[in-house]
This record gives sequence, structure tokens and C-alpha cells, in this order.
Amino acid sequence: MSNHETKKGFSHEKIETSNFLMIVLILITVAFGGLVEIVPLFFQKSTTEPITGLQPYTAVQLAGRDIYTREGCYNCHSQMIRPFRAETLRYGHYSVAGESVYDHPFQWGSKRTGPDLARVGGKYSDEWHRIHLIQPRDLVPESIMPAYPWLEKDLVDAEAMPAHMKALRAVGVPYTDADIAGAVEATKGKTELDALIAYLQVLGIHLK
Ligand code: HEC
Repeated sequence: MSNHETKKGFSHEKIETSNFLMIVLILITVAFGGLVEIVPLFFQKSTTEPITGLQPYTAVQLAGRDIYTREGCYNCHSQMIRPFRAETLRYGHYSVAGESVYDHPFQWGSKRTGPDLARVGGKYSDEWHRIHLIQPRDLVPESIMPAYPWLEKDLVDAEAMPAHMKALRAVGVPYTDADIAGAVEATKGKTELDALIAYLQVLGIHLK
């Protein structure tokens, strides 16, 4: 037969005929490959530093963002413009990592039943969003987006905002003490609809 039978030490055949050894060595190889790809991203400026002009969400915008996640808007809307011509022609500049350094968790997503919202800020008036969120079909007759009529009636939980902002500060969002102290005042009496629109209107406006 072949000459490997006579070879001393570690032969490839040993690895290929042992499930256990094969699994362990594959895991080591894949883990190493993964680390080489992922670890540099933690230290690369373009992925860790905010783009020029990026501001943390105000208390009202942050409350709106919570409603966005609570209502599951991300199930139908991504916030990630890919670097392809068809995408940038439709939505504008492709998304960069520095735009979402204050997003915990980010809302990039991949499911697009509706359009991408990464740069929807400023595209429509507040009034347009108001009508659209209460009943999308009043503006877009063929729309399959659900209606969210309760947002207009329910108020934001203002008392919860300071703790929320403190938690974000702990993971690196640069909120000042004044931001946190003023959060209750800023969000008190605002409807969930006001907050959600404030959030939508700031999406992607820092990089045009
Ligand atoms: C079942 C899927 C679905 C869900 C859930 C959904 N949408 Fe939509 N959305 C759509 C579709 C489809 C459109 C395109 C038709 C239209 O404009 O209504 C759309 C359009 C939009 C637009 C206009 C985008 C543009 O560029 O014209 C905005 C803004 C929007 N949605 C916000 C939201 C928000 C905020 C939520 C959560 C409260 C939400 N959507 C939940 C499907 C969805």
C-alpha cells in the first residue's frame, strides 16, 4: 500500500479517520480564521469612531427609537444601504459603521418588505409621517404596512428615560449629566407618535 503506514509520528490519516480529532482541528482552524477577520474591526477607526457631526439621540428621539423596536418596524424595514449602485441611486450614500456607533442595538436588519429607512430623515414632513403611521393607506393606497393608530393616544414613559440614558452612557454614548437630568422634562406629555416621528426624522441626516 502507501508509504504512510511506515511513517512515524502524526500522519494525516490519523486525523481523517478520527471524528474527534477532525472536529477539534476544524474548530481551531475556523476560530482562527474568524478571529483574524473580526478582531481588527475592534481597533479600526472607521468602525469604532462616530462620523463627523453625529449626535447621540435626544431623549425624545431615543423614546421614539424604543417604540420603533417595540412595534417591530425592523421586521419589514432595514436601516442599511449597501454599497451598490441600485441601492445608492434609490436611498443615497451607502451606510457606514461610524453612523451607528451610538445605536444599541443597531437596527441594520436585512428584511425589506418595505423600503430601507437608513436615510428617511427629512424625506417627508412630520405631517406626512403622522398620517402615514396612523393609516398608511390614506397616503399610499396599495400599502401593506400595518396602521398604528394607538401611537397618537399613548404617552411616552418619561420617567423611564434617565435610567435608559444612563445605561447607554455606560456602554459609551456620550450623554452629559444635563442631558440625563433634563430627560423627564423633555419627554413629558409627548405622544408615542411625536417621539417616533422625531426618531425617523433624524435617521441618516449626518451623512448625505
Ligand atoms: C408588514 C411590514 C411593515 C411593517 C411592520 C412596517 N412597515 Fe413601514 N412600510 C411597509 C411598506 C410595504 C412600505 C411602502 C408603502 C408605504 O409607503 O406605505 C412602508 C413604508 C414606510 C415608510 C416610508 C418610506 C419611504 O421612503 O417612502 C416609513 C417612514 C415607514 N414605513 C415606517 C415604518 C415604521 C416607523 C414602522 C413601525 C411602527 C413600520 N414602518 C412598520 C411595510 C411595513
